[in-house]
Amino acid sequence: NDVKGGGLDPFQVFSAELKDISLAMQETVRISGVPTLDRAARYFLERSGKLFRPATMLLLASAAGGGIVLPSQRRLAEITEMIHTASLLHDDVIDVSDTRRGAKTVNSMLGNHVAVLAGDFVLARASAALARLNNCDVVSVLAQVIENLVRGEVIQINVSSTKASGWEDYFKVYLEKTYHKTASLIANSCRAVLMLGGQRHEICDAGFEFGKHLGLCFQLIDDALDITAVEEELGKPTCADLRSGNSTGPVLFAMKEFPELQAYVKRRFQRDGDVEYALEKIKQSNGVEQTVKMAEEHAFRAREALSKFDESSSRIALENLTRILLHRRR
Ligand code: FPP
Ligand code: MG
Ligand code: MG
Repeated sequence: NDVKGGGLDPFQVFSAELKDISLAMQETVRISGVPTLDRAARYFLERSGKLFRPATMLLLASAAGGGIVLPSQRRLAEITEMIHTASLLHDDVIDVSDTRRGAKTVNSMLGNHVAVLAGDFVLARASAALARLNNCDVVSVLAQVIENLVRGEVIQINVSSTKASGWEDYFKVYLEKTYHKTASLIANSCRAVLMLGGQRHEICDAGFEFGKHLGLCFQLIDDALDITAVEEELGKPTCADLRSGNSTGPVLFAMKEFPELQAYVKRRFQRDGDVEYALEKIKQSNGVEQTVKMAEEHAFRAREALSKFDESSSRIALENLTRILLHRRR
């Protein structure tokens, strides 16, 4: 194992395996017997993104397993990506989004009903594949993830009716939502992939911590990019969070400097001109910088968790991943 490869690209190390995972996902949802369902379920699986979650899981499995990744661990990486995809099918309905990954969404092409049902179908096939791994503890961990995804979404919908008063409260709810909707999936799949590898408790816990901080970092950067990115590069509309009434890092940090923003946060930027006003205030504040700074702290803590793993090229690739996430532009 090459331990000095500072330039190791985390998406290259297992690029062949990631291609296989992409094909395997399409195979796993094949032939429902209903053409519309087949088309809708396949749609995002054929347009898979960077496979950030599977890439992380394969590298972590390899880092803990002396370079070896078991077939069951690859399968779990596939299942995780399918759960993520199912949640995106539902998310685009909730968010009334018509573009993702630079393409039209399923809800915009085939309607909300088909999109929701296709999400359920992908989740069902992922659950069957999960059961076939024959590990009840791993099933429990992934079931918790699905519960947390739902929780995260509901927390997000309910923010204005929570008893939040003042900056601290809003920020606490924001971080709780972020853990549930993004970090839990990565943290728990990191734990589960190590459990499947028969790793001891301490290593599974370290994997969870790594995934949690990586996930928080990922989402904080996502929230900053929503304000700063260029739409063509991002593959989806920018300022979508403010427009859909969601308050994330940039506006909440700006609210600390400009308390008058609290009224806007509470009414979810619903009145004419609210979004523009909030954007202006974000730009006058250091909201974006603070959000990125918080992401950097989580990237640091993710690398700290990795110190529990022996040195290896996979570990270096994971350390690089924490830096790549911070500097991504889409
Ligand atoms: C994307 O967030 C959405 C999620 C990470 C989670 C969505 C979860 C659900 C809809 C609950 C249902 C779950 C299952 C498993 C069926 P975003 O809208 O902020 O990001 P985007 O820009 O990618 O849309
Ligand atoms: Mg969305
Ligand atoms: Mg959403």
